[in-house]
Amino acid sequence: MYAAGDVANQPHPSLRVPGRIEHWDTAQRHGRAVASTMAGRPTALQSTPYFWSQQFGSNVQMYGRPASGDEFVMQRSGSDEKPLGFWTRGGVLAAAAGIDRPKELRVAKALIEAKLRPPAAVLADSATDLRGLLRGLVPLSGPLKWVLVCESSALIEDEGFRMATSPPVSIFLSAGELFCVDDTCTHETYSLADGWVEDCVVECALHMAKFDLRTGAVLSPPATDRIRVYEVRVQDGQVFVRIPATCRREDTA
Ligand SMILES: Cc1cc2nc3c(=O)[nH]c(=O)nc-3n(C[C@H](O)[C@H](O)[C@H](O)COP(=O)(O)OP(=O)(O)OC[C@H]3O[C@@H](n4cnc5c(N)ncnc54)[C@H](O)[C@@H]3O)c2cc1C
Ligand code: FES
Repeated sequence: MYAAGDVANQPHPSLRVPGRIEHWDTAQRHGRAVASTMAGRPTALQSTPYFWSQQFGSNVQMYGRPASGDEFVMQRSGSDEKPLGFWTRGGVLAAAAGIDRPKELRVAKALIEAKLRPPAAVLADSATDLRGLLRGLVPLSGPLKWVLVCESSALIEDEGFRMATSPPVSIFLSAGELFCVDDTCTHETYSLADGWVEDCVVECALHMAKFDLRTGAVLSPPATDRIRVYEVRVQDGQVFVRIPATCRREDTA
């Protein structure tokens, strides 16, 4: 008995448990794998799941299969508003999806298959050369750099200070401690610097997700993914933060 396409429930490296991948591309590949198996060459379909769809004049594509618990990173582009998102699982790139971004997504497929571990800040940066990442030209270790933020006297207790970097980070003074975290809420990309701060917790002003400023952990939905935290130090009355080297200051570019 052989099964192919939507009805076939198969073990697959991209799935945590056996499952069905209901898309045209898989159905076609299943057909070839089953035919090959029937002809005496046993073939297991293990290629990266893929689908495309044409919706309202836009091309939607996805490689890989996201799962609950994956970390999601949205690439924040400047003039180009077309979205490109990545899911990592245990740090390894597991899936990518985008709208009208076929070139980048084809590279993302190769990145997924290479089982690379790109840091979230690298994926989030629209200036990242994805092909360079594949060829090892972009450092994966995520080098950090110390950056001057402001005079410590400029920070106000329980108020966020948004730093003009891409991607943005924010500095908070709460309960006498300084914190630096990703500024973008992982729920729907609202600025956390505008949030409500109390007892080292920031509450997003848009839908009230809460994050622990010490660890970046989600304390309250609707966000499910943590934010990253960065080192802060004060020297001679000036505040410095240690952020990914890929973070560019927008005010000095
Ligand atoms: C509305 C819709 C939109 C979709 N959009 C996309 C998309 O944009 N991108 C994408 O990748 N995928 C999309 N899909 C999914 C994609 O269409 C399916 O994954 C793919 O067609 C599955 O192919 P298949 O050969 O496994 O099954 P099917 O294409 O369903 O073929 C099964 C065939 O078996 C026949 N059949 C059933 N029972 C019997 C029987 N007893 N005897 C003989 N014949 C029988 C059926 O009539 C049918 O022709 C969409 C699906 C739907 C329903
Ligand atoms: S955007 Fe922050 S909770 Fe919705």
